[in-house]
Amino acid sequence: MQLDEAIRSRRTVRQFRPDPVDRTLIDEIIELATWAPNHRHVEPWRFYVATGAAKEPLCAIHRDLTREERPEEPERAEARYQELMGVPVYIVVTVEGDPIPKRDLENYAAVCCAIQNLLLAAHGRGLGAVWRSGNVIRDARTRAWLGLPEHERIVGLIQVGYPVAPPPAVARAPVAAKTVFLEG
Ligand SMILES: Cc1cc2nc3c(=O)[nH]c(=O)nc-3n(C[C@H](O)[C@H](O)[C@H](O)COP(=O)(O)O)c2cc1C
Repeated sequence: MQLDEAIRSRRTVRQFRPDPVDRTLIDEIIELATWAPNHRHVEPWRFYVATGAAKEPLCAIHRDLTREERPEEPERAEARYQELMGVPVYIVVTVEGDPIPKRDLENYAAVCCAIQNLLLAAHGRGLGAVWRSGNVIRDARTRAWLGLPEHERIVGLIQVGYPVAPPPAVARAPVAAKTVFLEG
């Protein structure tokens, strides 16, 4: 797939077929993620991949969060758990923080670039993905599950798998609506 086409046609995918994803493909999309620009070449990203039974603790944390948020609807939490267990691959992407605020922001930005690479690489291989940023990424239980050190924080929880169906096309605002040209 051509780069322009990949960038335009990538869409967030939230429903996945149960088919497993080859480990080689997961390795490839992570490797491509790491080609993102990063200031001072610190490569501040880390990737934690969970498949199969290894997903269970994360899905259980999600279920507990849903229970806490909606105690009156226990069946909702259980349905969420089942749905989440059906996602073939979870990639938790973290950033190594930096005590200098400017560098910390640069590291975060670099990890966001890496995630976009990963999403595009997945798309180019016929996979779908969604970048999740809900409460689960800030929850202490998720940090404990991964054994994250103090200075590392989660930027995104990426769900990956084969799409159930092609997502609907969306539009973007025209360039002129978002751009100011200062022409000499
Ligand atoms: C930083 C960030 C956080 C996001 N968090 C979520 C999320 O928590 N849940 C979700 O369903 N989608 C999430 N998304 C996906 C966006 O909703 C999605 O990109 C948007 O709907 C545009 O669709 P597109 O990716 O197909 O262009 C997130 C995207 C970004 C960039």
